[in-house]
Amino acid sequence: MQREDWDRRYAQPGSVWSARPNRFLVAEVGDLAPGRALDLACGEGQNAVWLAGLGWTVVGIDFSSVAIDKARARAAREDLDVEFVCCDLVDYRPEARVSDLVVLLYLHLPSSERRVVLERAAGAVAPGGTLLVIGHDTLNMTEGVGGPSDPDIHFTPDDLVPELQGLEIVKAERVLRDVEGESRPAIDALVRARRPTV
Ligand SMILES: C[S@@+](CC[C@H](N)C(=O)[O-])C[C@H]1O[C@@H](n2cnc3c(N)ncnc32)[C@H](O)[C@@H]1O
Repeated sequence: MQREDWDRRYAQPGSVWSARPNRFLVAEVGDLAPGRALDLACGEGQNAVWLAGLGWTVVGIDFSSVAIDKARARAAREDLDVEFVCCDLVDYRPEARVSDLVVLLYLHLPSSERRVVLERAAGAVAPGGTLLVIGHDTLNMTEGVGGPSDPDIHFTPDDLVPELQGLEIVKAERVLRDVEGESRPAIDALVRARRPTV
């Protein structure tokens, strides 16, 4: 989807996504000591705001100005300080090795662009820091529910592992996500990685 398509989608009244933080994000990072966090493709900011509530200093990036406005409004409502930046991640160069946590949730780019964005995201992770990538697994198209239909923008955990140079893979697996009103779960790809301290 192009930026204009996302803007149109986010312009609908109410929230496009659940107002709650992603369940896998909560499980994976909820007990980490807060530091600097980057939420790449932050959408309406529910995950960035949740992290800020835990004490993280968060920067959220998304190229939809409508989503960024909603995210800023949400942070203001919750009286939390989050920096939201409207920017195309294909052009964005995060500062190297300073973020204690970098998350990319359900960002589905053509594979050539994904590789560039992931390489920079991995490069942004500080020594001892964590990278978490979650998205619709390729298998979801045939055996799951929801998600986009273009195969090139899907990935498996194994697709992501070689794209995270310099990081140790902590976890690379498929995870199932129950979806309200659906008889079968969605299938997500989840990769958690860490930059060694030495
Ligand atoms: C499926 S939504 C996920 C939003 C959020 N991470 C979440 O889990 O609720 C994908 C997001 O990626 C953003 N996005 C897509 N391509 C992008 C790009 N090239 N640069 C920045 N944001 C992008 C869209 O605007 C959208 O907010």
